[in-house]
Amino acid sequence: MPTAASHRFDVALLPSAAQPLDGTTVVVVDVLRATSTIIAALFNGATDVLPQPSIEAARTAHQRIGENSVIGGERQGKIVDGFQHGNSPLEYVPEAIKGKHLILATTNGTVAMEACRAADRVLIGAMVNVDAVAEAVFDIPRVCVMCSGTDRIITSEDVCFAGLLLERMIAKRKQKQIPDAFLTDAAHIAIDHWRSVQNAVAAGKPLVDFFKTARGGINLVRIGREADIEFAAQIDRFNTVPELDLNSWKIT
Ligand code: MLT
Repeated sequence: MPTAASHRFDVALLPSAAQPLDGTTVVVVDVLRATSTIIAALFNGATDVLPQPSIEAARTAHQRIGENSVIGGERQGKIVDGFQHGNSPLEYVPEAIKGKHLILATTNGTVAMEACRAADRVLIGAMVNVDAVAEAVFDIPRVCVMCSGTDRIITSEDVCFAGLLLERMIAKRKQKQIPDAFLTDAAHIAIDHWRSVQNAVAAGKPLVDFFKTARGGINLVRIGREADIEFAAQIDRFNTVPELDLNSWKIT
């Protein structure tokens, strides 16, 4: 069994704050909405998701792959001109996506994945699959939760996910009598943030209300996408953990 000294859990509160990622399993998160959308699209039958760093890159990939692909993404939360879909998890129902490749370009989430190229493995997390992710990573020696943020600014919903994921990982280690991992300062900050939100939730304030007033949520409320926030605030709706293949750059 690995020893505590070799285990280290970290959080990058923004992609730009990440420490070198070699030897590390990264869990990339953009609760509102990219990673929630990716998890939903794959659950509903997408063959794979190809995350794109830009609108132009997405258009090129769509031309290359052709009609068996769907091009989706957003700018300022809204569908991009000429794209078939936006970035709502509710759009990617089986009728829209089953058996198709999803080429996805979002402002923050798919760009954050670019910052993970040096990692060992990259998993896709969100509130909707948090326990499945915790189960997949709790005994891995080096884990970093990469928060996408919104427009290069830290956003509460991603930090909530990081704190909840770490809490679950810590609980699973205790259950299996694995020694405690070392937690970085950012990991402690994420856990503290999640606990303060969780206390308010226990006192009656719904989690979705926190997300509506977080940086990513404010924009979605402004454009009438509250339903997406409701979707993304569901804890453990899915039991799947998508993974980004670092060679093919496809999420399955
Ligand atoms: C992003 O990747 O920037 C977000 O998912 C934005 C959005 O809510 O569509």
